Amino acid sequence: ISPTSLPMRTNDSNFVAKMKSSGRNVIVFYGSQTGTAEEFAGRLAKDATRWGMKGMVADPEECDMSELAQLTEIENHLAVFCVATYGEGDPTDNAQEFYEFLQNGDDQLDGLQYTVFGLGNKTYEHYNAMGKYVDKRLAELGATRVFELGMGDDDANMEDDFITWKDAMWPKVCEFLGFEAQALDINMRQYKLKIHEEYEPSQLYTGEFARLNSLKIGNQKPPFDSKNPFMAEIVVNRELFNGGERNCMHIELDVEGSRIRYDSGDHVAVYPVNDTALVNRLLELTNEDPDRVFSLTNVDEDSSKKHPFPCPCTYRTALSHYVDITALPRTHVLKELAEYTSDPAEKEKLKLMSSTCDEGKMEYQKWIVNDVRSIVHILEDLPSCKPPLDHICELLPRLQARYYSISSSGKLHPTKIHVTANVLKYETPTGRTNKGVCTNYLYKLKPENDTKYHVPIFVRKSQFRLPSKPQTPIIMIGPGTGIAPFRGFIQERSWQRQEGKPVGETVLYFGCRNKAIDYLYENELNEAKDSGLLKLYLAFSRDQAEKVYVTHLLEQNKAEVWRIIGQENGHLYVCGDAKKMARDVHTAIIQICQTEGGMTPGEAELYVKKMINQKRYSSDVWS
Ligand code: FAD
Ligand code: 2AM
Repeated sequence: ISPTSLPMRTNDSNFVAKMKSSGRNVIVFYGSQTGTAEEFAGRLAKDATRWGMKGMVADPEECDMSELAQLTEIENHLAVFCVATYGEGDPTDNAQEFYEFLQNGDDQLDGLQYTVFGLGNKTYEHYNAMGKYVDKRLAELGATRVFELGMGDDDANMEDDFITWKDAMWPKVCEFLGFEAQALDINMRQYKLKIHEEYEPSQLYTGEFARLNSLKIGNQKPPFDSKNPFMAEIVVNRELFNGGERNCMHIELDVEGSRIRYDSGDHVAVYPVNDTALVNRLLELTNEDPDRVFSLTNVDEDSSKKHPFPCPCTYRTALSHYVDITALPRTHVLKELAEYTSDPAEKEKLKLMSSTCDEGKMEYQKWIVNDVRSIVHILEDLPSCKPPLDHICELLPRLQARYYSISSSGKLHPTKIHVTANVLKYETPTGRTNKGVCTNYLYKLKPENDTKYHVPIFVRKSQFRLPSKPQTPIIMIGPGTGIAPFRGFIQERSWQRQEGKPVGETVLYFGCRNKAIDYLYENELNEAKDSGLLKLYLAFSRDQAEKVYVTHLLEQNKAEVWRIIGQENGHLYVCGDAKKMARDVHTAIIQICQTEGGMTPGEAELYVKKMINQKRYSSDVWS
């Protein structure tokens, strides 16, 4: 395989010229927020080579998308769109402009050959809204759909949806373009390994995201964003639970001097570091020297992505800061691992799990997904599997920042960002204890007199906002850490009251397991209640034989709920668990529209849809 047949990546805005000059016919655009769509795009571009074509990956943000019409100048061209849906049916940040281009565009895309794979989550209201839109809109603009829209559901099994779709897609594409529909079984390395025997220590990356030394305190330059995060000092990190087995942190991040501004309802992203014990274990299993300095460099010199992460660095740095070592390896990773496995039964098992037959999919679901096996667990359980560490670094996704709903008001605390986060820890069916990367990392960073800790952060603006008029009544529903943004809202409204503004009814539904253990911010909420600002409804689910949830209280208070949302044009907010709680709240509100508002089920659905469109029903939920 020559370097030019490998997939490349472009940030040359004139992508058509680049495709022509490098003889490529397939371009895979991605709309990605957490890296999965980008990873899928990379796999599709690689697949193109296997199917006898030549592919490249492109970020729509870095391309002049009005060139799409000129793709028709390339013989046998195909544009693949791998687009994730984010938040309330929104495009990802990097696909925002492309989305506007499609919306406004009256460009004719006659003759453009395309297919779309959408990444979404059925837990959310607007399942795969972006994938559906891009697929439909391209057709409206005259483009030719070569293969039907594929949709991945992150709530079920995204990997399964993706491989099933692409396995059906490529033969159809080959047929359409007149290629012989036969996949070559080749493994390709995208990056070349270089071990640096000699190096200048000051030139090694140590966890930066872009510029060398950019995370050094005193060396930081605004503006701060995902590529240039601010090193915020953790000034408070205290336990919120009273006893019990679980932990919940109240963290305060100092952003003084950073020019970072935020509003109540915004999110803060934190870049974590992988657990040292896990990093050591992976180094041990691969028999690699943690201090060895290496670079991975793209085989394709034309590609805009020279390295998978900042290089040169040590293996310890790569595993601690850049590579997601706890993610569940996807099927293409297992396929590559099989090549390094000497025991025939173990090799077969890996091959089976990476195949698309039903038995293989079931085994992947059971052995990887249900058993929550990470790369470390796989290497432990398949002892004859001995991949080189640099290949693991190439195959696994990048470690991503984690988002948190800011739990303070920027009006009251302009230089501090508060976070309320549960520490994630759970037992797996194989008897292991898995620990959430970011929350367990933060949990250890407790400042003391002489010990200060800084973490890389940035703020992401959200749509989750208090009504513009302080008089507008609001209902907030936030059990567990879902309380986070509402603590900010309450602070803001109490500040508005102190400023002499007329503040409308402010109602909070909070729920937790036990009043004595996990009732978050009890004192603060009682203060807000006693001051006359807050109306507080509490559901302690495990303090009595029967479960009591916030949804039960909404039902009990249905007349008041309807008065606020149906008669007084109030706003309703939901925050926390997307899977069950937010859905149940949605159902409860639709029910109240019927019983209290006298609507038919259809009218109630429409009414809630209208509330969402008018931003009178807002969700800030995660799964
Ligand atoms: P990770 O290492 O990322 O592990 C989490 C993953 O583990 C999950 O995605 C799931 O796949 C898996 N997992 C979890 N439990 C199990 C289990 N029992 N069995 C098998 N697999 C399991 N969190 C808060 O605490 N407070 C907030 O205010 C908050 N706000 C958020 C706002 C937004 C917009 C979003 C998207 C998320 C928010 N989260 C919040 C969640 C937060 O971003 C992290 O997902 C969470 O802290 C876990 O991160 P982690 O790195 O510790 O865990
Ligand atoms: P449980 O864990 O006892 O079932 C915060 O997690 C609180 O939300 C807990 O008290 C939890 O109760 C509760 N909860 C769980 N499922 C819920 C649902 N579908 N609706 C509302 N609250 C729920």
